[in-house]
Amino acid sequence: MPVHQVVLIAGDGIGPEVAAATRRVLEKADAPIQWEEHRAGLSALEKGMTVLPESTLDAIIQRGVALKGPCTTPVGGGFTSVNVGLRKRLNLYAAVRPVRSMPGVPTRFEGVDLVIIRENTEGLYSGVENELTQGVVMSMKVATEAACSRIAHWAFRYATQRKRRKITVFHKANIMKITDGLFLRCARREHQRDYPNIEYEELIIDAGCMKMVQNPGQFDMLLLENLYGDVVSDLCAGLVGGLGVVPGANIGDQQAVFEAVHGSAPDIAGKGVANPLALIMSAVMMLNHLADTRDDNACRAAAGKIKAAYDQALADGCKTRDLGGEMGTESFADAVIDRLKG
Ligand code: NAI
Repeated sequence: MPVHQVVLIAGDGIGPEVAAATRRVLEKADAPIQWEEHRAGLSALEKGMTVLPESTLDAIIQRGVALKGPCTTPVGGGFTSVNVGLRKRLNLYAAVRPVRSMPGVPTRFEGVDLVIIRENTEGLYSGVENELTQGVVMSMKVATEAACSRIAHWAFRYATQRKRRKITVFHKANIMKITDGLFLRCARREHQRDYPNIEYEELIIDAGCMKMVQNPGQFDMLLLENLYGDVVSDLCAGLVGGLGVVPGANIGDQQAVFEAVHGSAPDIAGKGVANPLALIMSAVMMLNHLADTRDDNACRAAAGKIKAAYDQALADGCKTRDLGGEMGTESFADAVIDRLKG
């Protein structure tokens, strides 16, 4: 049976806690993974390394797949984001965030089942900011035809492979006529040329957000540029119980890095109360990715076992504090492990 070498970046804040819990669940589910631990973020700085060490990037390039905990980015100054740097350096252009209602997690809506596809490499995240003159600053929003077409093509192909029915693009092309206009033109072209069978819709983002919180069931897949994707991901997380239950993947043509949507949650770090589920779910996405790309049934089996176990744990009322329960990080992981079958 092949064993896959996977890079593990525990990250900052709650990262090491949720990463340890996730690792334990995968080991108990007999996932054929051998972890290779590397640093990024504050934990790398503390060891005298740069925030995004070349050795970490090299390891991901070599292994092809990584599981990553959140990395802290200082607000309003300090070093630039490790997460953005990683996505850009490895050209992980497609962020995929499935958002679904979880058993045993009551929320305002039932049956939410959305997939968010976020362009991960440009837009306002280009990080080109200047002070033009005192009191006048600017931030440049970059959009290229190549990246807009690439993400649109990726989203439609994903929709076809996963048998999704509709893609909605959220945009602000009424105001940002050139940049968001290009994003829309590329999406329309991909749709018309190659994927006319997938339903296609465009909504100005402010109205789209209102419709989302009124009735998320009208959406199936969302396609967004970088910043909109970031904000709308958290909004959608709020529809299904919060950031503790939304996993994610950053996918490029050569590498893939799996990480939860949530950040390092400094307010609860070190207390043993963080919900590890979003990272466990990200690890399940990673196992399915390995199964798809390396044709490995053992990964698929482990992914299925873990998913069934956490669904059962939630249905049995096992919950961390963010979901209204009382369990800690480790005891929730134990509850999942207790329900692994087969
Ligand atoms: P955050 O996602 O860390 O926290 C927002 C709120 O959700 C907090 O109240 C936190 O306690 C709660 N929360 C988040 N994850 C949770 C979990 N697993 N279990 C229980 N509660 C959870 O967002 P915030 O506070 O905006 O950012 C904190 C730091 O994380 C910043 O430095 C930010 O740059 C970084 N960040 C990193 C990301 C990444 O590495 N991919 C993504 C988002 C933020």
